[in-house]
Amino acid sequence: MSVRRLAEENVQPEKFAFSRENKAWAKTRIGLYPEGRQQSAVIPLLMRAQEQEGWVSRPAIEEIAQMLDMPYIRVLEVATFYTQFQLQPVGTRAHIQVCGTTPCMLRGAEDIRAVCQSKIHAEPHHLNSDGTLSWEEVECLGACVNAPMVAIGQETYEDLTPERMEEIIDAFAAGNGAAVPTGPQVEREFSAPQGGFTSLTDVPKKHAKSRSTKVANDDAPTQKGRKREVSAEAAPAIDGPKNTAKVSRSRAEKERKTADAEATAIFEAPEGAADDLKLISGVGPVLEKKLNAFGVTQIAQVAKFKKADIQKLDDALSFKGRIERDDWVKQAKALAKGEAEYVRVFGKKPR
Ligand code: FES
Repeated sequence: MSVRRLAEENVQPEKFAFSRENKAWAKTRIGLYPEGRQQSAVIPLLMRAQEQEGWVSRPAIEEIAQMLDMPYIRVLEVATFYTQFQLQPVGTRAHIQVCGTTPCMLRGAEDIRAVCQSKIHAEPHHLNSDGTLSWEEVECLGACVNAPMVAIGQETYEDLTPERMEEIIDAFAAGNGAAVPTGPQVEREFSAPQGGFTSLTDVPKKHAKSRSTKVANDDAPTQKGRKREVSAEAAPAIDGPKNTAKVSRSRAEKERKTADAEATAIFEAPEGAADDLKLISGVGPVLEKKLNAFGVTQIAQVAKFKKADIQKLDDALSFKGRIERDDWVKQAKALAKGEAEYVRVFGKKPR
């Protein structure tokens, strides 16, 4: 847990004021509390200030202290205690809070953090090059059963793999964060067992019918009515035959890791040093390792990919459409001509 301090003076705004709409909301909110208890509105007001500005500045704390007739230090104490309050500017499209507490750490939080470091910034609380993304490590966010997980805004993204984290970051970077399903990123409902129930399945005969209907319903891959689109890579334990209900997640992951380790080249790697394939948006450190294992090592090589090559790689990665969706070939063609060409084609620098 890091020490939480206000941002340096040079990034603090001169003043803060709630918008007209938020001011009216704050007045109603403060009025909900009994006479003499208005200070109880401090957390909702701080949160509203953060929703308005993206983070909580010193002038915002001063303004809220004044509105609630509280000493400044009391509001400061609240703002600096809870990690949901951001005390310095964060990414305009996403600020990713990576849970690093023991259950998440044991389930791969360090790999998730490495993806953030690679795709956003090596240091927490720093913006990426275009100011759209930032990240930090936080303590348990209460979704340990679906570890590892991250929170972005008020939503959580659980059962993460490094590959899935890369995809989520890419979606937010492209302004498509709202399209990413929240909650578990594998085929499970809330924290129900992945692949179906494996214990306590005996049902008295007279309830057997209704039970089997319920189990069938439980198979529906939805949460709060939202459709889930889960990649095969992100959901290793749900691949394969129907008896996967009996395959534990840890075993499935072990199998995947073994498969990764055994990945054999499907392309002839060109001579010469390997390029940084991570310059291609959509390729992170984990994926780059896999590509190298498949014999894909250079950007010029990707630039020459034909449909059949894309198909072959798609199959090997078990992620149909990924290469075309992120337009790897177009990116690689531009990158092969230099950064200026990439900027000309895509309107931004390669990561
Ligand atoms: S340890 Fe990560 S959510 Fe609890």
